[in-house]
Amino acid sequence: MSRTTLVTLDVSPDAAAVAKKAAEHFAATVKQAVAARGMARVAISGGSTPKRMFALLAQEPFLSALPWDKLHLYWVDERCVPPADPESNYGVTKELLLDKVPLPASQVYRMEGELDPQEASSRYEALIRNTFKLEGAETPVFDLVQLGMGDDGHTASLFPHTEGIDEMGRIAFANHVPQKNTWRITLSWPVINAAREVVFLIEGAAKTDVLARVLTGPKDVETLPSQLIRPANGKLLFLLDTAAAAKLPSPHGGTMEWVG
Ligand code: 6PG
Repeated sequence: MSRTTLVTLDVSPDAAAVAKKAAEHFAATVKQAVAARGMARVAISGGSTPKRMFALLAQEPFLSALPWDKLHLYWVDERCVPPADPESNYGVTKELLLDKVPLPASQVYRMEGELDPQEASSRYEALIRNTFKLEGAETPVFDLVQLGMGDDGHTASLFPHTEGIDEMGRIAFANHVPQKNTWRITLSWPVINAAREVVFLIEGAAKTDVLARVLTGPKDVETLPSQLIRPANGKLLFLLDTAAAAKLPSPHGGTMEWVG
């Protein structure tokens, strides 16, 4: 079934400017959610791109402006390593953000990368069901999901030609990634698409070609899993730098109808 997604391309000159836009968008989305529902549930990604944003959120004006006591923080995906490992998405966020802001530890829901991947993903699914008070086959609705994109077109831990691309029934699961000879714990794409706000943070020349293929090339979710991200509300935001956006139809920003 073909869908049309209204894509907003917000292009900034460099990585520092993307991080500032991402922090401002994070803060505004959290405040809106708290105003509307009394709390904000956010799922963040790992990798290098969000690091600058984490550091900014731990500083003024965001440190004072954010309602930290109303924020519930989840992860989109995690590497199968202990929290102290430099590869740990949770570990990086703890060092750059969590150790510096008054976010209650009881509202930080990390994926247990140190456990067996199957067990860790089942525990995370149970935790989400419990904290979202889900019944039956209900899908959790995050207020904000932040994603990155790998230069191979993966997002979350939905890598090309992996079983995770076909996973639609579970909220979180363990995805085997042969190309990295590892397992990853990840949210499924239907859960990401159910979020009220989905944003990609993408920067650098290494992403120029893949981003253009994802948004303007033929539909091929096996090769470009980022094409699975079609939020149910029909809207998708990209916070980009000029290098990443260089081969897009509107390299300086704008909106486009993404049909596929
Ligand atoms: C992870 C991420 C992953 C990331 C992309 C982009 O755990 O690695 O969640 O999906 O967003 O790999 O990573 P960079 O920001 O480092 O390019």
